[in-house]
Amino acid sequence: MQIRTFPSRSSLLFMVALLASAPVHLKAQAAPSAQTATDRPWMNPKLPAEQRAEMVLKQMTLDEKLSLLHGNGMPGVPQWSMPLTALANGGAGYVQGVPRLGIPPLIMSDAAYGVRGSGANGRYSTAMPSNLGAASSWDTKSACAYGTVIGQELRAQGFDMTLGGGVDLVRDPRNGRTFEYTGEDPLLAGTMDGAMMRCEQGQHVVGDIKHYVMNDQETGRFFVNAIISKKAMQESDLLAFHIAIDLANPSAVMCAYNRINGAYACQNSYTLHDVLKQQWGFKGFVDSDWGATHSTVASSDAGLDQEQPMADYFGPRLKAAIASGKVPMSAIDDHDRRVLFGEFVSGIVDDPPQKSVVDVQKGFDTAQHVEEESIVLLRNQDNVLPIDPSRVHSIALIGGHADVGMISGGGSAQVDPPGGNAILPPGQGATRWQEHIWFPTSPLKALRAALPQTKITFDPGTDLASAEALAKQSDVAIVFASQWESEGMDLPDLMLPHGQNDLIERVAAANPHTIVVLESGSAVMMPWIDKVDAVVEAWFPGSAGHKALANVLVGKVNPSGKLPITFPKSDDQLPHATIPKPPAMPRGNPLGTPITGPMSYTVHYTEGPEVGYKWFEAQHKEPLFPFGYGLSYTTYKYAGLTVDSASKTARFTVTNTGNRAGTEIAEVYAQLPHGMEESDYKRLVGWKRITLQPGESQTVTVPIDTRTLKTYNTAQTAWDFAPGAYAVYVGGSSASTPLTATLMIH
Ligand code: BGC
Repeated sequence: MQIRTFPSRSSLLFMVALLASAPVHLKAQAAPSAQTATDRPWMNPKLPAEQRAEMVLKQMTLDEKLSLLHGNGMPGVPQWSMPLTALANGGAGYVQGVPRLGIPPLIMSDAAYGVRGSGANGRYSTAMPSNLGAASSWDTKSACAYGTVIGQELRAQGFDMTLGGGVDLVRDPRNGRTFEYTGEDPLLAGTMDGAMMRCEQGQHVVGDIKHYVMNDQETGRFFVNAIISKKAMQESDLLAFHIAIDLANPSAVMCAYNRINGAYACQNSYTLHDVLKQQWGFKGFVDSDWGATHSTVASSDAGLDQEQPMADYFGPRLKAAIASGKVPMSAIDDHDRRVLFGEFVSGIVDDPPQKSVVDVQKGFDTAQHVEEESIVLLRNQDNVLPIDPSRVHSIALIGGHADVGMISGGGSAQVDPPGGNAILPPGQGATRWQEHIWFPTSPLKALRAALPQTKITFDPGTDLASAEALAKQSDVAIVFASQWESEGMDLPDLMLPHGQNDLIERVAAANPHTIVVLESGSAVMMPWIDKVDAVVEAWFPGSAGHKALANVLVGKVNPSGKLPITFPKSDDQLPHATIPKPPAMPRGNPLGTPITGPMSYTVHYTEGPEVGYKWFEAQHKEPLFPFGYGLSYTTYKYAGLTVDSASKTARFTVTNTGNRAGTEIAEVYAQLPHGMEESDYKRLVGWKRITLQPGESQTVTVPIDTRTLKTYNTAQTAWDFAPGAYAVYVGGSSASTPLTATLMIH
């Protein structure tokens, strides 16, 4: 006879209370494994994600299926409020799970360079350097560390899906989101973004790569129609996404607001169905940018899987479309299969997030390391840098709020600084949309700590005469200049705003040893370049930017970053002298209600695949600083290039010819055979970071990535790899390639 013992009521209550207070992951694992094996065979982590998704799908009701295909509002945006909005954990969105079947909800947060919204939620998160900044390291290990920290901090706050990973090519450096992207070259941008997202998703959060595709400007972003040929798009912006997606295998791809050759990005069957899903075989799901869904049937047909953040089109209307036969059940199953696959493959089913205190120190260390690798030394006349305290006894530190902090990028990428905006009195609470935010990372304090014997005096730079007077009496003057950027705006031009050029001119006239530190999200034009001794590009430098910067300025760290974008001399060097403005502002509120018109607003990307340095080369224009450029406190010599056409590798030797250890990023480019269309510029095909002691030489072999050498054949829907002689170039920047050899393709 079987004896059953029942727990007493009080012990039952105790168990219930215990379970309720247990960490999320314990609750998820509470089901006994024997039962799981029979009742929920998909919970077996050894099975492939596809198989697990298929098994769950078979168990789901129609309403459960529909619940995975739309959001439930966005906290803090009244127009985007739904009954379950509060479950978004203070993040950007929430998708119901299927608790009955062990499928967790998607709890999403923006996290471009760190977890967003911490201020409003009383939490802390690390700001890594901007994505573009980090791309200047050309270091995939660094990108991985970057993604790992963000993934861990998302989980610690209870999120299981990131909205990060911007990889739109920097076609126009005035794009206000340039700092969120990883540069102008498809191989570099795709590789750096892919490495970051691979490691972020590796922490068991659903990874999302955005904004697919051609979201290359913010002006009129909700309706601008990007016109570009399929061939040009395949060889540029799509290639960057493909490389990133291949590397990261993200669970999700976010379609963009804009239109592409007529159709909205979230109902564009060419980019979503034909390219992403068919040609690339992407198995995850497509979620719309916030408010970027414009239809039910057309979007479902084109390949949108999940509407965000509302259920305007993929809620009751989708159900009605199924009932009327306008959307087949097979399409719904496909959408759901993809969401489920994304949940399994990212690991959030087996290892849901567990709220915890983030490892603040690890965040600081990583942010500092990434920034130290990302700072780009653009000019260094007479070796004014690194600062030598035996010769420099006084420094004037001028402008840019450098006494209290360093600036950060805004919009949905904004990470909230601990203690609030450093340039405002404490206690002002969470950051507000498009407020200019300084982190409490004081270069003044960091430099004083690094140079204890040197007199360092700060002047805010608001009174030119006072700045000039201080510069005059100091051995060296350092001007801090910033160019703030954000989602939802483009820069009118690449000039430093707020009279900062005048300040630099005045200081440079007063002190022959003037150094300019730039905190910018994109390229900066420098009419004063010949008048200053040094320029250091620190980007938006993140939570430990001041320490990294001080280490570079005093030479504890030898700069090694190289530009991931071209710095033009003037706006008229760019393919478009200005960003075209919409003829009239559309009706509708971008945050919540659908946009209507003007549908005639187009941007013609006539430069095609000639993005950034390719454009400058093809047009024979000389930029201010070329792609791939960056100085060091030592010098390098390149020699002995051989190319092995069979293995498609380049082999060469780099020697450190100076007297300091350093890391050189050696760049390999190749050019299509003479006579071919698009043979008038070279393309990045590989690179290697090489650390060398003074006098040391290293011979390295760099694989030639042929993805950037193939040309897209639209008629055949295929890539051609033309036979012929490809010139291979090796050197320290796109404009300085002392070594050449030939790659033969038969
Ligand atoms: C942005 C996305 C962001 C989303 C959610 C949109 O406006 O374009 O990048 O992930 O909002 O905040």
